[in-house]
Amino acid sequence: MSDRIHTLSGYFHEYQKSVTEPEKFWARIADSFHWQKRWDKVLEWDFEGPDIKWFVNAKLNITENIFEKHLYTLGDRAAIIWEPNDPNEEGRTITYRELYHEVCRFSNALKAKGIKKGDRVIIYMPMVPEAAVAMLACARIGAIHSVVFAGFSSSALADRVNDCGAKAILTSDGNYRGNKKIGVKSVVDEALEKSSVDTVIVYQRTGQEVTMKEGRDHWWHEVIEGEEDTNKAEVMDSEDMLFILYTSGSTGKPKGVVHTIGGYMVYTKYSFENVFQYSPGDVYWCTADIGWITGHSYIVYGPLLAGATSIMFEGVPTYPDAGRFWAVCEKYKVNQFYTAPTAIRALQAHGTDPIEPYDLSSLKVLGSVGEPINEEAWHWYHTHIGKTRCPIVDTWWQTETGGIMVSPIAGITPTKPAYATLPLPGIQLCIVDNEGKIMTGNSVEGNLCICFPWPGMLRTTYGDHERCKQTYFSTYKGMYFTGDGVKRDHDGYYRILGRVDDVINVSGHRMGTAEVENAINEHPLVIESAVVGYPHEVKGQGIYAYVISDMKNRTEENLVNEIKDTVSKIIGPIAKPDKIQIVSGLPKTRSGKIMRRILRKVAEGSLDNMGDTSTLLDPEVVTEIIDGRK
Ligand code: PRX
Repeated sequence: MSDRIHTLSGYFHEYQKSVTEPEKFWARIADSFHWQKRWDKVLEWDFEGPDIKWFVNAKLNITENIFEKHLYTLGDRAAIIWEPNDPNEEGRTITYRELYHEVCRFSNALKAKGIKKGDRVIIYMPMVPEAAVAMLACARIGAIHSVVFAGFSSSALADRVNDCGAKAILTSDGNYRGNKKIGVKSVVDEALEKSSVDTVIVYQRTGQEVTMKEGRDHWWHEVIEGEEDTNKAEVMDSEDMLFILYTSGSTGKPKGVVHTIGGYMVYTKYSFENVFQYSPGDVYWCTADIGWITGHSYIVYGPLLAGATSIMFEGVPTYPDAGRFWAVCEKYKVNQFYTAPTAIRALQAHGTDPIEPYDLSSLKVLGSVGEPINEEAWHWYHTHIGKTRCPIVDTWWQTETGGIMVSPIAGITPTKPAYATLPLPGIQLCIVDNEGKIMTGNSVEGNLCICFPWPGMLRTTYGDHERCKQTYFSTYKGMYFTGDGVKRDHDGYYRILGRVDDVINVSGHRMGTAEVENAINEHPLVIESAVVGYPHEVKGQGIYAYVISDMKNRTEENLVNEIKDTVSKIIGPIAKPDKIQIVSGLPKTRSGKIMRRILRKVAEGSLDNMGDTSTLLDPEVVTEIIDGRK
């Protein structure tokens, strides 16, 4: 715990050290981990390549830092507390020792199925402890996991299986979500019509009927039968891949962000302990899904590396009612609670009655992640959940950053509603204007970049290093570009303003407009489409699609529903447009480029000033679009 920041001056002191002597700083943090062989050099880097290596030539296994390191002292402590979807079903508490044995047993089973170091394994599972077991079992044997959110469609799953050349899929028969029972294995079966893997292992969760293909599909409970519950962890290099996580960008299909072992391990534990001020014995709950980076870093890796008790919740915030989160907080005496603004806004809409019955006095820290938190939601969270007692940590970061980058240190950094405040030690931010000129001083606004490596950063995009270079390291020379706009106010505090590229953030889920357009265009009657984000009260941003289509003999309503279904099928229900406007044309420049600025303004409802439309091929289209606005 010597790496814990305790005071504001301590934070400034650590920050200063991390900038003036970064290698010495991170070597000190890394010293508290178990390395089979120490590094030859802390850092080698070049943002041109990009080529980034942390803890060069060090050998380790991340799971030894979760298990072997903790077993003597924390063996009986709860590692995971699982709360099922249905409050009447009994939950599960899994100690570090039990989790260790489960991970060993399952990793032995994976090995027995021929899965080895370097193989890619897709995890397409609901929020059950076995999903964490699956991730850690891969890490134990050196297989690279790629978790795919279980709400993605079969076609999105097939794309990911193909892109990473997966050898196996770990999945479940079904999934409970609120009052629904959803097929999961059936989605895998459909995906495997367009892709192929040698092995599918199915965890039985709902007991619903599934088809099992002889030789390829196996039951989880059968493969672990008779397997030893111990083993020796594979020796891994610090820069070996730990996982691939697919995320959306402004162009093309989602890309596989690659994280490697050593740096990610050091960064997630360090950021977890400091941001949340986790103390031994605390009960911590992050409500994310393990399909997203938040689940990877702050349900599984960060907390477990810190020896924390991490709650895993299978359900949704409004089932059986809007008091569920608070019921769970009371039940397990949660100390740190971490959720997304979209959930806060959704619950805010139910008023404070659902909170009343519950004792929330155990709460010490509240966290927010995934999208900008508006001031109203911040105050509601602070007043009604934190009873004005609990600091809010508004944590800004990304799939690519691996861990939290800008955030208050709970109870130490003075907070300001809607501000992520200050960078964590080791994080060197800069704001650049559109020409790439660094904007110094306070009270400035521009594009957020990071100008020095940090251990948790992505190393490449799977199978396409050039894409990584183009996307993140080419816009502004010598810097990692985040895609976010930011303001640094008169106090030097950072406020994230949202994406400046064609990425939208719907309920904290990241989506590329091009990706949604491509899905819409799959509908046989769609000729062309353009998608933009617009402010949405609960979701943060909603999806607004303008579609040129041949209606044939459909009503507009039927066509709109068909298009929504198409998107659901191709990406998943989370990408379904909120509004679809059928138009006869799109505002294009003479060179054929869609003027998204105009489409955004119409979607937002700011209709008075459309700006300069004189360069448009057909300015009439704008009037039609305004008149038909949804
Ligand atoms: O726009 C920022 C927004 O979410 C994007 C990253 O999305 P993803 O990779 O899915 O990771 C989400 C969870 C870490 C960022 O580029 N974002 C994330 N956290 C915040 C945020 N915007 C404002 N404030 C935040 N706290």
